[in-house]
Amino acid sequence: MQTKKVKDFPEGFLWGASSSAFQIEGAAYEDGKGLSVMDVRKVKPTVCDYSVASDHYHRYKEDIALMKEMGLKAYRFSIAWTRIFPNGNGEVNQKGIDFYNDLINELKKNDIEPIVTIYHFEYPQGLVDQYGGWIDRRSIDDYATYAELLFRTYGDRVKYWLTINEQDHVVHMPFRLGLTDDNRKEKERLGFLANHNMCVATAKAIKLCHEIVKDGKIGPATCFEMMYPTTNSPADALACMDAMEIRNYYLLDPNILGEYGGTFKRYLEDRNMMPEIHEGDMELLKANKPDFLAFNYYYSESISAFPLDDEHEIGDIEFNLLPSREAGVYQVVKNNNLEATLWGWQIDAVGLQLSARCLWDRYHLPLLITENGFGNKEVWPEEGILQDDDRIEYLSRHISNVREAMNVGVEFLGFCAWSVIDIISGHSGFSKRYGFVYVNRDEHDLKDLARRKKKSFYWYQKVIETNGKNIK
Ligand code: BG6
Repeated sequence: MQTKKVKDFPEGFLWGASSSAFQIEGAAYEDGKGLSVMDVRKVKPTVCDYSVASDHYHRYKEDIALMKEMGLKAYRFSIAWTRIFPNGNGEVNQKGIDFYNDLINELKKNDIEPIVTIYHFEYPQGLVDQYGGWIDRRSIDDYATYAELLFRTYGDRVKYWLTINEQDHVVHMPFRLGLTDDNRKEKERLGFLANHNMCVATAKAIKLCHEIVKDGKIGPATCFEMMYPTTNSPADALACMDAMEIRNYYLLDPNILGEYGGTFKRYLEDRNMMPEIHEGDMELLKANKPDFLAFNYYYSESISAFPLDDEHEIGDIEFNLLPSREAGVYQVVKNNNLEATLWGWQIDAVGLQLSARCLWDRYHLPLLITENGFGNKEVWPEEGILQDDDRIEYLSRHISNVREAMNVGVEFLGFCAWSVIDIISGHSGFSKRYGFVYVNRDEHDLKDLARRKKKSFYWYQKVIETNGKNIK
């Protein structure tokens, strides 16, 4: 709705930027770090591995100086589980503990609020080897033990904690679970079993955080794809509602409401994929609610019905990394009203406002945006600085929609752009850059890894300085 008055961003709004350990740190085999599923993942020869990344492990002071210059109020980063517990459990690696102590102290010294993700995709390969990882109940206690150590070690300085990054992308991307089975349907079943274990582990971490960290706040960092019915046919509207339940709310409902939604339960039961729920699980979930809900938002999806026919039966599912169509449920189609990035991600700033409003209406928790950004192929010019106007445009429009959501009552803790500097993309190596700062390396040529400020660096500096007043 168009309103007479638009609210300003509140004082204390956490203007931030984000990263994750395996995408930024490098030093993958240094100082006692163990192997994670990301380290052992086979990447295409055209794409770099994660061994050097942006070399932040060795250059974190320089990077924090840039964050300070940009004016960041918050930095959201993740801790590499295998730097702390090289095998995922058992012996602790002091050098890993020291690294994050130094990093956090440097942030505090520069008045930047640390927002820490406990686990962002890089699951310890050691736990996969020991018992299969998240598909085994032992994973719950190993995660809780790891989280507890973090709370006790860093909880005096870290007050914002994120439990699991994009659990949905772990559930549906078997390599992130360490699963190697060839049978995709079996991988889906195991994914939903892992999902339940991750939900229980999240509840345990929330409980521990509340017990250990004075004034600590903790919540999940989910991904959220806003979905629209492709046409005004009731069949598309129904497919869209089902897709929202099965793709977005299915893991937030247990995490926040302490229950599985009816649509998701029926979906799992029909496919014999309902995980075993142990006595006490749902009580634990109900009793330990998050303090806020963090979410990552990049694009929206247009949804059409996909009725069963002679060629398709219940359980037939196709993937485009994430599920893209499922017989009897829904299919994702192109939205002709929207432009897309080079990777086909449909750009939809209003979708961010709609996502925030849906999440607020359903869960009534303050929201924190932990990722939003524009991935692009970029080459540093021979003269002048990199003019990343597309990124500025993308972020301006999305931030403006955060303000619109606040204007109608949604509470936000902050906005963290993805990513603070150029880091390795989840699937496209260094060819897809998101940062405010250019890192001088290519896919396989490490060059000098020098940091160079893009135009968006100065733009975001201004956004923070004016507390968002320069956003149209
Ligand atoms: C989110 C992840 O899925 O999206 C990040 O939390 C990831 O780790 C980001 O990098 C962007 O995805 P991609 O594939 O463009 O790097």
